[in-house]
Amino acid sequence: MLFNKKKEKKRKMKKNFFVSTPIYYVNGDPHVGSAYTTIAADVINRYWKSMGQDTHFMTGLDEHGQKVEQAAEKNGYTPQQWTDKMTPNFKNMWSALDIKYDDFIRTTEDRHKKAVKRILDIVHEKGDIYKGEYEGKYCISCETFFPENQLNGSNKCPDCGKELTILKEESYFFKMSKYADELLKHIDENPDFILPHSRRNEVISFIKQGLQDLSISRNTFKWGIPIDFAPGHITYVWFDALTNYLTSAGFENDEEKFNKFWNKSRVVHLIGKDIIRFHAIIWPCMLLSAGIKLPDSIVAHGWWTSEGEKMSKSKGNVVDPYNEIKKYGVDAFRYYLLREASFGTDGDYSTRGVVGRLNSDLANDLGNLLNRTLGMYKKYFSGVVVSSQEEQFIDNEIKTMFTSTIEDVKNYMYYFEFSKALETIWKFVSRLNKYIDENEPWALAKDEAKKGRLAAVMNILCEGLYKIAFMIAPFMPESSQKIINQLGFENDVTKLQYEEIKEWNIFKEGHKLGEASPIFPRIEIEKEEEKETKKELKIENPIDIKDFNKVEIKVVEILDVDKVEGADKLLKFKVFDGEFERQIISGIAKYYPEYKKLIGEKVMAVANLKFTKLKGELSQGMLLTTEDKNGISLVKIDKSVESGAIIK
Ligand code: ME8
Ligand code: MG
Repeated sequence: MLFNKKKEKKRKMKKNFFVSTPIYYVNGDPHVGSAYTTIAADVINRYWKSMGQDTHFMTGLDEHGQKVEQAAEKNGYTPQQWTDKMTPNFKNMWSALDIKYDDFIRTTEDRHKKAVKRILDIVHEKGDIYKGEYEGKYCISCETFFPENQLNGSNKCPDCGKELTILKEESYFFKMSKYADELLKHIDENPDFILPHSRRNEVISFIKQGLQDLSISRNTFKWGIPIDFAPGHITYVWFDALTNYLTSAGFENDEEKFNKFWNKSRVVHLIGKDIIRFHAIIWPCMLLSAGIKLPDSIVAHGWWTSEGEKMSKSKGNVVDPYNEIKKYGVDAFRYYLLREASFGTDGDYSTRGVVGRLNSDLANDLGNLLNRTLGMYKKYFSGVVVSSQEEQFIDNEIKTMFTSTIEDVKNYMYYFEFSKALETIWKFVSRLNKYIDENEPWALAKDEAKKGRLAAVMNILCEGLYKIAFMIAPFMPESSQKIINQLGFENDVTKLQYEEIKEWNIFKEGHKLGEASPIFPRIEIEKEEEKETKKELKIENPIDIKDFNKVEIKVVEILDVDKVEGADKLLKFKVFDGEFERQIISGIAKYYPEYKKLIGEKVMAVANLKFTKLKGELSQGMLLTTEDKNGISLVKIDKSVESGAIIK
């Protein structure tokens, strides 16, 4: 057995459940990775709700820090404008994926700033913050400080491989090292603190190598939460971001909520394995210092690759959830992600894998069970339920199996073993398919004397399907709803409770079943692959010529180029547009180290763009560039074309 009695007891005590996803950086759009964590959180939240718990599910955005500031700058926005612009991209994707969160938090909200200030004050008053100087390396992409002993002289980030930045600045430090022993003890006494259990050792040995104090302030840029006791400093983005979990639970804003959903909840953070140290080391140390309850479990999942390779924009193999939903439907996508890889290990997303899995589990197993059942009920009883007492021993076996399925699923879900939970549910689906073959309703139907037994068999199947709809509802809410409807009920599956569906008495004499229609069509892999190769020319958002004519594009000559002081990404161009000299700022410094060579070139510029300021420099237009896997380049025009020529 997986679980001992003591744990069983402990589990029953907590009636509230708090689950979070990481809050995602807004430097780019959501993708299959962020979708995976968010879907998992949605499923686990719906699940415990259906089992009668009070739940709080939060997701959101990590909006501060250098990485976001740089993304904003690169795109010509202020950080706040940029994060405002990016927010709907996340919210829309979550709604397309049928994600029903209770709270969407943004770290630029006042409630969060309040919480961060409070935590900083508590930790400061405790004497756990001191002033010093940080001298060392920093990965902007991971927003992480790397002490030399983790680098062995290398200048590349050990996590993401990108070039590190050298920092030397005054900084405030959090006495994290002070909490190493207490944390080790906590991990030891709470075996479920880090899940899956296989990840515990990695964390323990990292702590045992010796924890360093953590730099928690920056003073060389502005995009972050100011620190009251440290003028000129902003909060280190991870210290800020981790606190979001408290904010969402109500810390400093809603005491009653905080008590319920933090202090009296099973608090669980779902994350990817990339950020386990932040969650299983820094975060609990912060909470230990602040005297706040630690989360119950940090659950780290594996990494998705695509067709066997690491996903990357330049390879063009990034899985876009919108595409997948369009091809297979939301539920199938959710199902595949949680069924294919077990939650702690890496998974590979491949067209063949998806199609194979969906055809066999959804179209064949579950789809056929539903179609056969409804089809036979219609044929033998015109789709109207006939009650019957003629149960046999085999029916009890099905009922017992359902009870143990519910129990096993609960145990797996407790440990976030989504794949095993689904596998268990599918054993029940297969058992019912086999039950049809064992009982041969078509044979019973031929004998008038066996009509009673036929009805009993058909009712077991209907009840079984209803229970399957209940069990799959957290994973596939839409399909579950369709099954319930085809069985002739109007109930909202998102509200179904285990307590209401556990008895085998849902289908009453005279109940009318609904119309059958296939929920999971078979996918033809050949067609699928054809589609992949022969992409059709299609315009997503067509514009007409009037829209195009609004943009005035001119040939300009580059008269001079310089760097912009204090912004290593920007170049300042002086150009001639045939009539005026203009100054144009462009974020392409990285691609033109020998920028003076550009003088004399003719390039294209948008001439009627609103003037703007970038890093304090006026920009009176925009130079057109191309971007491919080799980087960004200016669009050059033959020098014989006159400056000021219009591009149409
Ligand atoms: O780390 N496979 O944000 P982030 C699976 N803001 N999961 C993936 C993935 C992949 N290929 N790629 C990304 C941050 N993820 C911080 C978090 S929390 C206080 C602050 C998922 O935008 C996975 O959950 O880089 C990972 O942990 C998360 O995206 C990182 O998102
Ligand atoms: Mg990341």
